[in-house]
This record gives sequence, C-alpha cells and structure tokens, in this order.
Amino acid sequence: MFKLSLILISIVSLTVGHICVWQPRQRGAFNIDGPDSDACYRKPKPCGGISGSKNGKRTKIQAGKAYTVEFQQNLNHYYTNNPGKLDISFAVGLNPVENDFRILKSINDYNPMNQITQTNFSMDIRLPKVTCKQCVLRVRYVTNNPAENDHGTTFHQCSDIELTSKPIKENEKIVKQAEQRILNENKKPNIPKEKNLHDCCAPQSFLTFFVHHIPQIKFYSSGVIYYDKPSQQMRVSLIAGDGESNKAQNGKFDMWMNFTSGLQYYYNIHDKICYVLGLDYFNDWCFGNKYNESEDFVAKDVKCKSHIGLCNQWKNGDFIFEAYAERTKSGCYPAGIHRLSTGEQTDYYYSLDGPFSPEIFQPNELCLKHAISSK
Ligand SMILES: *[C@@H]1O[C@H](CO)[C@@H](O)[C@H](O)[C@H]1NC(C)=O
Ligand SMILES: *[C@@H]1O[C@H](CO)[C@@H](O)[C@H](O)[C@H]1NC(C)=O
Ligand SMILES: *[C@@H]1O[C@H](CO)[C@@H](O)[C@H](O)[C@H]1NC(C)=O
Repeated sequence: MFKLSLILISIVSLTVGHICVWQPRQRGAFNIDGPDSDACYRKPKPCGGISGSKNGKRTKIQAGKAYTVEFQQNLNHYYTNNPGKLDISFAVGLNPVENDFRILKSINDYNPMNQITQTNFSMDIRLPKVTCKQCVLRVRYVTNNPAENDHGTTFHQCSDIELTSKPIKENEKIVKQAEQRILNENKKPNIPKEKNLHDCCAPQSFLTFFVHHIPQIKFYSSGVIYYDKPSQQMRVSLIAGDGESNKAQNGKFDMWMNFTSGLQYYYNIHDKICYVLGLDYFNDWCFGNKYNESEDFVAKDVKCKSHIGLCNQWKNGDFIFEAYAERTKSGCYPAGIHRLSTGEQTDYYYSLDGPFSPEIFQPNELCLKHAISSK
C-alpha cells in the first residue's frame, strides 16, 4: 500500500511543459526529438535555472538589426480562463536579473486541443542598438496555467549572444529575410479583440478524423480524436509518417486524457512503452474570443481551405482556425487549423456525434500497470 501511494504521488506531482530554442542556441542541453523533453523544461526566473558562462556558446548578431528567433513549444498548455503568451526579451550582461529584461515581442498562445503538440515558431525581432560582448536573448512561455505551477507557471529559455557593430557573415540571410518580414508586418493594422456572433463551440461529445501535414519536413500524421466534455475525457489515436519506427515523427501512438484524474497516457505502440504526463485543465473545443480562444473572427461562409464546402474562419496570429459553416443543434464542427507562414495544416473530417462507449477512454493494461512517468 505504501509503495502504491508513493508511485501515485510521484506521477501526479509530475508537471510538464516546455519550450526549446535553437536560433540563437539556448544554454545547456537541447533536445526536441519528442514531446515532453527535459531540456525544454526550465522554470525558475530569469533563465530556467541555467547560468551563463563566459566560455559557453555565444551567437553573434549585429546590433539594431532584425533577426529570427526559432523555437519549439514542446508541449502546449493553453488555458482558457486566462490565455497565455510567448514572448522574447533582451538583457545586457552575462547573468542579468529579471528586472533587466525588456520584452521585444509577444504573441498569443494558441489552442491545438492536445497538450502533446510540438509546434515550431519563427519570430522576427529587432535587436536594440547597443553593442555588448555578453548579453542574453530570452524566450518565455507564459502559460498562466495553474496546473503548471512549479516554480511559477512560466517557462524560460536563455540564449547567450553578443551584439556587434559590424554585420555577421554567417547570419546575413537570416537578417535580410527578417528585415523584409518586419517591414510587411508593420503594414498590418492592429485589430482589437472582439466577440462575434459566429463564435461557436464543437458538440459536447463527438469524434473526428484528422490529417496533419507540415510541408517543410514532409511530415504527415493522421488519426482519430474522441472528445467528450460531459465525462471530461479525450482520446487520440494516430499514425505518424510510415508508422514504422518509435519516433514521434514516424510511429504509432495512442493517447488517453482523463481530465478528472489529471493524467494523460502516451502509448508508443512500436516500443510498447507508455508514458504518463500531468494534464492541464479541460479546454472546451471552441472558436473565437467569446470563448477565450484568443481568436478573432475573420469571415463567414468562405470556401474551406482544404475541404469542399463552406467554413467560418478565425485568426490568432499565424494560425487560421476553421469550423464548418453548417451547424447542427449540437454545435459547430472543426474543419482545420492552417498556418499562414508555413502552410502547416491540420484538417478534420467526418465528424460523428457521441456519446461513446466508456472503453474508448479506458487506457490499455500496459499503461495502467507500467506507465513510466516521463521525468
Ligand atoms: C474567459 O476569461 C475570463 C477572465 O479573463 C474568465 O472570467 C472567464 O471565465 C473565461 N471564460 C471561459 C469560457 O473560460
Ligand atoms: C522544428 O524545427 C526543427 C529544427 O529546424 C526541425 O528539426 C523539426 O523537424 C521541426 N519540427 C516540426 C514539428 O516542425
Ligand atoms: C478518470 O479518472 C477518474 C478519477 O481518478 C476515475 O475515477 C475514472 O475511472 C477515470 N476514467 C477512466 C476511463 O479511466
């Protein structure tokens, strides 16, 4: 009995989260092979508990110029009560303190409806016009999510940089491209957050098939999602790539999410290994600011991006969310998530209303008996 409760405690106290930065390269270890990577889990202010070192890797960038920061949200923690953000800040010094950081740019978090989602971001920033041998560029994931409260609810990742007076040959291309994109960005008007009468929610209980495609890396995955609000449960079963390895990019996975117990099981079918993660709160599958989705209504009854038929659209920064324009009395059905900058696309097909048999949400024996807590 003692042993069992010990195991349970260690599982439930597990908090997960995550952000990893490769351009400019973050301090310390780096790994984004799969979701829930240790190297992306850094909480304490100001730099996730990793200090700068004089001889550590330092990226040179020209002061006052544009630059593209590239990072991955290695797990998603969207919180509808108070949606979070991702931001980039800058400070001078080898080990600056929290108050030294100035925010250069900030974007809204987004809701992919699955915590186990790896999303790459490219954010164009302009560096300050100061030269410094030792300075820090920092990416934060401010989740605001109380279920992620371990040393606060914000994830930190610091990269050591040097700001030079002269251009740096190695990143000439990055700077040029970022300058151009910032120019285009500034032309776009800032629209205040508004609710719209087309804002809507998916049915309380439904299933949908999906296909996810990332053109740059020729990645495909497809599967089925079961969503059930009354019982606060979800299930996702998917095949990624050819499904033949144990990698997130090329495997078969089953995920069970029980928002009452706060546990998500992540079963790697190839390896027959099951991981268990702590889960955030249940998010309603909704569209628009009315439901705190940080999504502005764009258009009604437009041609769906990759379906026959008509869709309604919402936008959150780089993401376009679509729901089928035709609603049933149970709600509106998701049609897709489209990324403007990359063409990444998740399409939802053939929705069917629940309720479902309870077995659908029952994790397999192996998960229940031998799940490995991922930390
Ligand atoms: C939206 O956020 C507000 C506070 O920002 C909160 O009071 C409200 O409950 C939230 N609504 C939903 C649907 O989560
Ligand atoms: C994210 O970017 C990294 C680095 O370029 C790349 O290796 C990885 O495949 C990308 N992942 C996704 C999900 O796009
Ligand atoms: C979900 O968690 C609750 C609380 O621990 C538990 O009673 C219930 O049986 C779980 N549901 C499933 C399908 O495992």
